[in-house]
Amino acid sequence: MRRPKGERLTVLISRGRIARRVRELGRQITREFRGEPLLLVGVLKGACIFLADLSREIGLDATFDFLAAGSYGNSADTSGQVRLLKDLDTSVEGRNVILVEDILDTGVTLNYLARLLRERNPKTLRVATLLDKADRRVQPFEADYVGFRIPNRFVVGYGLDYAEKYRNLRDVCVVHLGREKRKGRKQGNKEARK
Ligand code: IMP
Ligand code: MG
Repeated sequence: MRRPKGERLTVLISRGRIARRVRELGRQITREFRGEPLLLVGVLKGACIFLADLSREIGLDATFDFLAAGSYGNSADTSGQVRLLKDLDTSVEGRNVILVEDILDTGVTLNYLARLLRERNPKTLRVATLLDKADRRVQPFEADYVGFRIPNRFVVGYGLDYAEKYRNLRDVCVVHLGREKRKGRKQGNKEARK
């Protein structure tokens, strides 16, 4: 994969570890829902690969739907303002819903989306996130299913992006930015959230 000068990637979580953990989460979900059908709601775009793999480790009838959320203004990390860019196509009322996200960071996005779905009266609402950066939390939030707790590093791959790149890497990697890029990193962060 082509990388701009100064941008370096190192593997944080290998594809093998991801596959094993996703299998465990799928089995746990299968046990806990005991034959009941599920609606998996993916948060675009970052969660699409996690959702695709997780769903195939779940031994229950599952349907998919997708949401997209973005942040207001420039200070995406701190504004605390989320807006819905794409709503669901289906109703969640009376259904077992699992909201599937790539990464839980400040908690702003998942707080907003979980509240939105809860107001629509699902039978149950659980949240699954591949990654959790607990040190970054601004609004308290606990996910029900967490793949990996990771330190406060900017990561890409397995669906996660830096300025829309690297989503198709098989491993979760840390991006090391060159000196000239570091200044513009806030911008990259913001782009990555879309
Ligand atoms: P939160 O509202 O801060 O929890 O935002 C979570 C969103 O920020 C995720 O859905 C990602 O799109 C983005 N994000 C946070 N940390 C990273 C990262 O390390 N790499 C890529 N995207 C990230
Ligand atoms: Mg995301």
